[in-house]
Amino acid sequence: MIEPIRPDTGSVTILDQRALPDAIRYWRCDTADEVVQAIQTLAVRGAPAIGIAGLYALWLEAEALRGRDDFWTLLEEAKDRVRVARPTAVNLQWAVDRAWKAVRDSERDEVPSLLRQAADRLAKQEQARNTRMAEWGAQNLTPGSRVLTHCNTGSLATVGMGTALGVIREGFRRGLVERVWVDETRPLLQGARLTAWELLQDGIPATLITDNAAASLMARGLVDVVLVGADRICANGDTANKIGTYSLAVLAHYHHVPFYVAAPVSTIDLALDQGDQIPIEERSHDEVRTIRGTVVAPQEVSVFNPAFDVTPGYLVSGIITDVGVLHQPYHTSISALVDAIHAEP
Ligand code: MRU
Repeated sequence: MIEPIRPDTGSVTILDQRALPDAIRYWRCDTADEVVQAIQTLAVRGAPAIGIAGLYALWLEAEALRGRDDFWTLLEEAKDRVRVARPTAVNLQWAVDRAWKAVRDSERDEVPSLLRQAADRLAKQEQARNTRMAEWGAQNLTPGSRVLTHCNTGSLATVGMGTALGVIREGFRRGLVERVWVDETRPLLQGARLTAWELLQDGIPATLITDNAAASLMARGLVDVVLVGADRICANGDTANKIGTYSLAVLAHYHHVPFYVAAPVSTIDLALDQGDQIPIEERSHDEVRTIRGTVVAPQEVSVFNPAFDVTPGYLVSGIITDVGVLHQPYHTSISALVDAIHAEP
C-alpha cells in the first residue's frame, strides 16, 4: 500500500503529492514547522492524513523542546499553529485537540513519546476505519456499478485503503464495480493526478473526465452512483468536501443517481449544527490562473478560489461511516453516533 506519511526516529517523511504522478519525491520533515508547510502546500493532504501528519508535527516539536523550561508554552504555541494549518477538515483540529487533552497533565519528559504513540495509534485507527467503511459501503453497490468520484480519497488521503476510494476498491474486489469515472478536480487536479494513479495501480478500470462532463454522463445514464469523501460533516448531515462536490450532488439529485459520502466518524463535527458554520479555506489565486506552473489566464484577472463547498444533507443519499451507513434524517442518525465518535482514546 502507498505510504503518504512515514515516521522515523526524529523525522517524518512525506510522499510529496504535488509531484505525483510524474515523480515519486519524498520530503523529510525534521521540524513541526516543516510538517505544517507540507500540510499547507498540499504535499500531504486529505482529511484523515492531515490529522495524522498534525500529530507527528506535535511529536517533533515536543522532541525539539525536550528539557527546556518554556516547554509547555512553546509546545502550546506549536499546537495552535498546527491545528489551524488547514481550516476546513475537522480531522486536524480533532486529532490535535484530543492529543493535547491527553498529554497536557503529563510529566514533561513523557510528552514526546506520548505524542508519538498518539500519532502511530491514530494512523492505525484510521486504517481500520477505512477497512470497516469499505465493507459497509460495498454493501450499497450493485453489480456492474459505474461509479463517479471526485478529488482523491484514497491511500494518499487516508493512510489506509481510502474512504470513497476504499469503498470502490472493496466493491471492485467483490466484482461489483465495472468502471470509475474520475473527475479531474480543478484547480489542483487531485482526481487526474492522484485518483487516476491509484486506480491504475490497482488495475481498476478508470476513465478520466473533465469536471464539467459529469452532467452529460448522468444524462446519458452512464453513472450508477456518485461516491465522494468529506472534510467535515455537521450534525445535520451537511458535508464540506472538495469544491465541485456540491454541483455533483445537485446533478445526481436531478438525474436520480444515488449520491453517497464516505467518511470515518472522525470527520463528523457534532459542534456544528449546519453547513454554513463550516470554515471554507480560500487558497492562492495562482492555483486557478495556472495549471501545474503553466499560466492559463491573464495575470491581472481577479480570482475566487474556495477549496471546498458544502453539500446540504438532504442531497446525500447515505453517509458511509466505519460504524455503519447513516440515512436521513441525519440529525437523528448522526446523534445516535455520539458514543462511537467519542469511544476511541
Ligand atoms: O484539498 P484536499 O486535497 O486536501 O481535499 C481533499 C478532499 O476534499 C477529500 O475529498 C477529503 O479530504 C476526503 S479524503 C478521505
